[in-house]
Amino acid sequence: MTPSLVRSLFAVGASAALTAGATAQDRVEDLLSQMTLEEKAGQMTQLTLSALSSGRQWTDTEHELNVEALRKAIVEDHVGSILNQFDAAFTPDYWREIITAVQDIATEETRLKIPVVYGVDSVHGANYVIGATIFPQNLSLAATWNPSLSTIAGEITAFETRAVGIPWNFSPVADVARQPLWSRYFETFGEDPHLVSVMAAESVKGQQQAELNVAACGKHFIAYSMPRTGKDRTPTQIGMVELLDVFAPPFQAMIDAGVDTMMINSGEINGVPVHASHEILTGLLRDRMGFEGVAVTDWEDVIKLHTMHKVADSEKEATRQAILAGIDMSMVPYKTDFADHIVELVSEGAISEERIDLSVRRILRLKDKLGLFEEPISGPEHVQHIGKQASLDASLAAAREGVVLLKNENNALPLASGAKILVTGPTADALPPVYGAWSFSWQGAEAGLYPDTPTVLDAARTQFGAANVSYVPGASFNEELDLAAVTSAAADADAIVVCLGEPPSTEGPGDILELELEPAQLALAQAAIDTGKPVVLVLIENRPRVFTQVDAGAAAVVWLGEPGPFGPQALAEVLAGTLNPSGRLPFTYPRQNGSVVTYDRKWSEGSPEVFANGPQRPLYQFGSGLAYTTFGYSGLRVTDRGDALTVEVTVANTGERAGHEVVQLYVSDEFASVTPHVHRLKGFEKVALEAGESKTITFELTKDDLSVIDRTGRKIFEPGGFGFRVGDQATRIDWGN
Ligand code: NOJ
Repeated sequence: MTPSLVRSLFAVGASAALTAGATAQDRVEDLLSQMTLEEKAGQMTQLTLSALSSGRQWTDTEHELNVEALRKAIVEDHVGSILNQFDAAFTPDYWREIITAVQDIATEETRLKIPVVYGVDSVHGANYVIGATIFPQNLSLAATWNPSLSTIAGEITAFETRAVGIPWNFSPVADVARQPLWSRYFETFGEDPHLVSVMAAESVKGQQQAELNVAACGKHFIAYSMPRTGKDRTPTQIGMVELLDVFAPPFQAMIDAGVDTMMINSGEINGVPVHASHEILTGLLRDRMGFEGVAVTDWEDVIKLHTMHKVADSEKEATRQAILAGIDMSMVPYKTDFADHIVELVSEGAISEERIDLSVRRILRLKDKLGLFEEPISGPEHVQHIGKQASLDASLAAAREGVVLLKNENNALPLASGAKILVTGPTADALPPVYGAWSFSWQGAEAGLYPDTPTVLDAARTQFGAANVSYVPGASFNEELDLAAVTSAAADADAIVVCLGEPPSTEGPGDILELELEPAQLALAQAAIDTGKPVVLVLIENRPRVFTQVDAGAAAVVWLGEPGPFGPQALAEVLAGTLNPSGRLPFTYPRQNGSVVTYDRKWSEGSPEVFANGPQRPLYQFGSGLAYTTFGYSGLRVTDRGDALTVEVTVANTGERAGHEVVQLYVSDEFASVTPHVHRLKGFEKVALEAGESKTITFELTKDDLSVIDRTGRKIFEPGGFGFRVGDQATRIDWGN
């Protein structure tokens, strides 16, 4: 399925924004010239729906819009943006009711009739819309190594979000996962800057197709994913070279793809909260990287400059710092004194009105680009296309391509047809771990909110026949339940599928104390192994939880991450062999808690030999993943074309069935002015190959692709020797001398 096919299926009409044409700039300047300071400050203020609602919060799905509070916020306080769900997903019709109420007040009852820009976290599908298409979480999407799936997931997500009236999506996460303890690891596209850049830029392109009238929001600028302690929103210490080399590229790729908005990292870097850092928000994001869109704070982060980070002795001072650092809009999100502070600060001369105009202009341009002045809420005819079959098929395709077969000793998989299977473990018969957080509620833990999609157990029964599949819970996430029952049920089984992992969680609630999988689950896996039957370990988890002590005893290991509604089906197809797995790990699977090293390590972190054979070697390498066929490489050749290099390699399917290989090009800079990485991914392509077929794949590399961040922070190309590796092929050249 191509993006254009989806567009035609959705029958989306011409963009209102496009038809607005050349009047855009005039309209924005015209409005700006009429606005009072209070109205401008209101445009920069974003409130959460909970602040405008009656009823209990975070406890159930009851919701009642507090129309009086809404009217006050929009008409009297001039609030320009609202965000979020209440506590759980709404139906499309109810969403449209809310957004209509919001836009009616904004466009009929205010002096200048400026529509509100509503934003939400549709981070893996429109996950707060009942009936929407849910996709794998980003880490599982990255495991497909298929960028077009990120484009299409972005497109469908944006369409379904806009169909309920919401034009702004706080996605994609473009943080690079370098700290496996971090609770939001699963929200990233993995540990490699290039893979993350490609997948994040594709998500932006998919979401921001003109017809959809949706703004994406790259988040969280920058280095949020690298808290030293591993705990969410705790300090990051990072040098300039690593910041620019590892964490900036995905944000640059999104800026180059035209991302409209950016959300800021709630944490601090080197002692300075990012929301107060002019160096990062203006020097880096705008001046160096060229971002021209709207910079929105994360949750309460202006206030937290005062209450948590303690770099401001009042909320007003926090407001001054954040605005002068470079934010345009504050996700306040419960009250409007942010706007009052702005008015006071401008009146006192602490912030110029020109500075405020800069942000308001950006916000109004965004509203204009999204077509909100012409069409504050999109047509009801789009609702019927939510969750349609073509979109579900795209999610199924993503789930299928994201299954990573890490180990398959003696071809334990696929299981023979008619095999009797014992299924066990805490993720075997539960949906929340399969979908992950941000599914119908923030933490995704409410099983009752989930649609009726198959669990792993259900999918196994469908695939192998109910009579061939038995089930024993075995263990909860952290307690042994009935290991003896597992042992006795195993007597009748040909294989045991042990489903391990984590309950869904994110942000603070997802912090963990220990990377190792819970002892109860390791005990369950060991009990299964002790039966002597072949054991297939299935990992359904938020981050790589260490399970090394049971890895050796397992016949096969399958990583799913959080694959979404179709993950169980995709797994069952792999177990049965009707699907040839083609996913590859988008991160390094650590062997030990104390030995977490990314694949693009430095030489001082161990030579490749040490990592391949020694005590620090990871359990599974970045980029690894098996298929039910084999692939071979030949003819790696690098041709110097002056300003660029062409790298060619031939890949062959040397096995007996059709499959997909992910051709991965790694480059080593032999010597550099800053310590080079042992190697770095510089290109990849997923290739379909029939049995016996071969294809020659070509990569183009420019000097920019092989540049380094030097000691002064400049990105420069340093001539010298470069090594190239694809599969077992390696070569080198001297370039640029
Ligand atoms: C906090 C999260 O860090 C961010 O990712 C999200 O977009 C906002 N809350 C809004 O829900």
